[in-house]
Amino acid sequence: NEIYLQGLAEKTPPFTTDATRLEAVAAEAFAPGPFGYVAGGAGSGATMRANRDAFDRWRIVPRMLADATERTLDTTVLGTAMPAPVLLAPIGVQSIVHPDGELATARAAKALGVPIVLSTASSYALEEVAEAAGPRWFQLYWPNEPEVCASLLQRAKRAGYEVLVVTLDTWTLAWRPQDLDQAYLPFLRATGVANAFTDPAFLAGLAKSPADDQAMAVLRWVSLFTGQDKSWDRLPFLREHWDGPIVLKGIQHPDDARRAADAGMDGIVVSNHGGRQVDGAVGALEMLPEIASAVGSRMSVLFDSGVRTGADVLKALALGADAVLLGRPYVYGLGLGGEDGVRHVLRGLLADLDLTLGLCGRRSVSEVDSSLVRSA
Ligand code: FNR
Repeated sequence: NEIYLQGLAEKTPPFTTDATRLEAVAAEAFAPGPFGYVAGGAGSGATMRANRDAFDRWRIVPRMLADATERTLDTTVLGTAMPAPVLLAPIGVQSIVHPDGELATARAAKALGVPIVLSTASSYALEEVAEAAGPRWFQLYWPNEPEVCASLLQRAKRAGYEVLVVTLDTWTLAWRPQDLDQAYLPFLRATGVANAFTDPAFLAGLAKSPADDQAMAVLRWVSLFTGQDKSWDRLPFLREHWDGPIVLKGIQHPDDARRAADAGMDGIVVSNHGGRQVDGAVGALEMLPEIASAVGSRMSVLFDSGVRTGADVLKALALGADAVLLGRPYVYGLGLGGEDGVRHVLRGLLADLDLTLGLCGRRSVSEVDSSLVRSA
């Protein structure tokens, strides 16, 4: 209906609705630094390509006369009700692509009821984003100082973040040639530290305020969040300081998924960080069926890395995911059109998902199972 009505009013969308062309459109519109930050991956980019290739190895088998005119995408994951099995992935320093950054993203997601997962490296303080946001989860980069970790968790809890997502795959930044070739670091200095610069435990470790010595404050931030891997026996610390569900993000091996379940975690995100960490790694979707069959009955299984279309979401659900996280596409939307741009990308994905679900002869997310797909 909307397409016809827009046609009558001679209105066109703010930018392409073709999710597969978004990156090319953003490449034209963004300055090289911000574009490199969002689009870049580890090393040669082999893992990013593997993420997309993995989707092409599965094909959907639609069913007919299934009475799918009335249908719903509603679902609930870890106690959070959502209008579709889609959340916005945590993406740091979004003000690199648009001054309103995470605030615009939060508003667009709220308008549609879609949950956000706010990054530790948000350009706006988590309390400020909470005021703009609807349903919200908090992503933790696990700081090397327990006091700072406890303080961030306490603030997130107080600000109404429902689920804690702990990212494990980025305990140090990978070899990312695009980043090294681009001069976006000045943006990072100014914007990537809002959560730390408003944190009492972080500020307590500084001799001078960030306003008086920004370089020192940024160095403290960097050393807090990189260079120290954690171990499985540290997970109880998180439990002690977070009384809601905990999800481990960046799981790629079924044995790690089993360990997460054994440790009493509530969920995992099967993810390779959008191909930004280990170059030459397996496509994230390739590991999903094995991981879902190992732990799917014990915990929530979420998925990201390479999701672009409604068909992609359905394939991930068919292979065992309870929901997916959308990464780069919404950040391209943010850079291209601010809050409206994020909403345009999200509405497109949800509409595509809804139509494809119906055309496959399914009326709800719960009717999607492995019979929907076959390997190509
Ligand atoms: C990320 N990702 C990420 N993950 C996280 O846990 N905390 C973060 O701050 C960030 N920051 C970030 C920045 C940028 C520019 C990108 C592209 C990605 C990873 C993100 O949450 C997600 O795993 C991937 O983006 C999913 O892959 P796609 O959808 O981008 O292919």
